[in-house]
Amino acid sequence: METKLLRETEQDIQEAAAILRAGGLVGIPTETVYGLGANGLDSSAVGKIFAAKGRPQDNPLILHVPDASWLARYCRGVPDSAYTLAARFWPGPLTMILPRKDVVPDAVTAGLDTVGIRCPNHPVTLAIIRAADVPVAAPSGNTSGRPSPTCAAHMVEDMTGKIDAIVDGGQCGVGVESTIIDLTCTPPRLLRPGGLPLEALEEVLGEVAVDAALLRPLGEGEKPKAPGMKYRHYAPKAPVTVVLGEPSATADYIAARLGEHTGVICFDEWAGRFAGHVVENIGSSARKDEQARRVFDALRAFDHTDVTEIYAQCPHEDGLGLAVANRLKKAAGFHVVEV
Ligand code: TXA
Ligand code: MG
Repeated sequence: METKLLRETEQDIQEAAAILRAGGLVGIPTETVYGLGANGLDSSAVGKIFAAKGRPQDNPLILHVPDASWLARYCRGVPDSAYTLAARFWPGPLTMILPRKDVVPDAVTAGLDTVGIRCPNHPVTLAIIRAADVPVAAPSGNTSGRPSPTCAAHMVEDMTGKIDAIVDGGQCGVGVESTIIDLTCTPPRLLRPGGLPLEALEEVLGEVAVDAALLRPLGEGEKPKAPGMKYRHYAPKAPVTVVLGEPSATADYIAARLGEHTGVICFDEWAGRFAGHVVENIGSSARKDEQARRVFDALRAFDHTDVTEIYAQCPHEDGLGLAVANRLKKAAGFHVVEV
């Protein structure tokens, strides 16, 4: 199939909406990462997402809506907290898990009785959803297991020939996926750290539980509540070691272990230490927003080089650091050293 490249024009927005209404697949920009969208009420269209990504069938998709007034169309018993969160953080990098209504196909929820809903903060994608007048089911637009796409070129790399169109909406401003909060339990539970810091959720919700899958590798037979969190993810071809600790100490640790084909993910202040190696600089150690924007591109970049091992400096886990550290640890299959 030929994959059309669309732009942010009114005509292209209408074309993307028409493809979605006709059951096709469109790569869509959001503020977090690019998504691979289909009509979320059309089971056969949704099925094509799984085929294009090579995604396991037991991993549910989230629905993208243009505003909070759509919540009650797809969810039962929407709690006040959902509307409070939407008023404060939508459009934005927050996905809420709520009890689903029957109109939401099993193909979207992988048979669960809940559904994830998010209103993305990207004007083009909001316009496409409104023009299509259907909720858009969209996982991140990467081939399953690869780092999520944060620009149209990444989408082209993974999806050319497999989907109908890709809308180029520029570089993603946040760079890591949305934060997922499960509102079907008490206290609400963080299932995935993401572009909205946990601290911001706690300000609104009070106590928030953190799913065990975020803190450690799960044992045999243990299940995370977000099915997708159990998969090895974001992994470059070369094995990754994540190094936790004060940045100067982690830089020393990595510098002492450099081999000829070692690649390094590091903070800007220490990039000079690794001259002569393949270095992905994810920004200043003080700028977690920059690290979030760059982390997936850094993980992708090594696949175009001859590195055989990768060390990564890891930020402290406050604010956006929790999401950046989680993506690095998942890329490393939780191979973490503390110095
Ligand atoms: O920022 C984002 O959320 C991006 C953009 C495109 O919106 N989307 C995204 O989708 O990251 P995906 O499919 O790559 O990740 C969604 C995660 C998966 O881990 C999935 O298992 C989980 O959400 N999930 C979806 N529905 C769920 C549900 N009903 N209960 C628990 N987890 C759910
Ligand atoms: Mg994903």
